[in-house]
Amino acid sequence: MIIAIDGTAGSGKGTLAKKLSSKLNLKHLDTGILFRLIASQAIKFNISNNDKRLIDLCKNLTIDEVIKTENCERKNLRSNIVSKKASEIALNTSIRNELINFQRKYIKFDKSLYNGIILDGRDIGTVVFPDADYKFFLDANVKIRAKRRTQELIHLNYKVIYHEVLNELILRDKQDTNRTVGPLVKAKDAILIDSSVKSEDEVLKEALKYIKIN
Ligand code: DC
Repeated sequence: MIIAIDGTAGSGKGTLAKKLSSKLNLKHLDTGILFRLIASQAIKFNISNNDKRLIDLCKNLTIDEVIKTENCERKNLRSNIVSKKASEIALNTSIRNELINFQRKYIKFDKSLYNGIILDGRDIGTVVFPDADYKFFLDANVKIRAKRRTQELIHLNYKVIYHEVLNELILRDKQDTNRTVGPLVKAKDAILIDSSVKSEDEVLKEALKYIKIN
């Protein structure tokens, strides 16, 4: 079983993916981490957005590195500067193609360990896995998303203020939605969940209504 969750930044897609993953015993991949890992290396080595060295960084990305990052959240990966750079490099078709290959390889899972896989991102249901068994699209009012994201980052010890986070989300939404390759768009067959006035558990409950387990 493959579940695709796409949506805007801060809409709660990562939280829903984590909750479904533990509830249904699914392997989980936060695909934003892939873009953030490449972006953070690009910043470290001062590599510009269209430099071919970014493709090598994508080719060299290993599943172990991603798992390690997911298990022990590296603090700087959520910073505004990494978020902005991740959204910028995500405009590059060659980078997207490399990371799509990575995601397709990642879904090979041990069937004795997991019942399936769940991926969250921007183009999972439209481009990466258009035949996914279940597709969800999460969204929420941008001010609510900014409030939640600010709280989350403060909790992780980032020094952020609401207005900066709001501006960053507005910019990323625009960039992610308007790009020509793999834009953030709801797949026709995706189930829309507006999380503006729903708690994490209410969102989980709503998603579970649609998922049938054999
Ligand atoms: O999900 P996130 O906020 O961690 O993602 C960071 C950026 O990475 C996002 O603004 C756009 C890019 N991204 C993407 O283009 N496609 C994905 N599947 C996941 C992330």
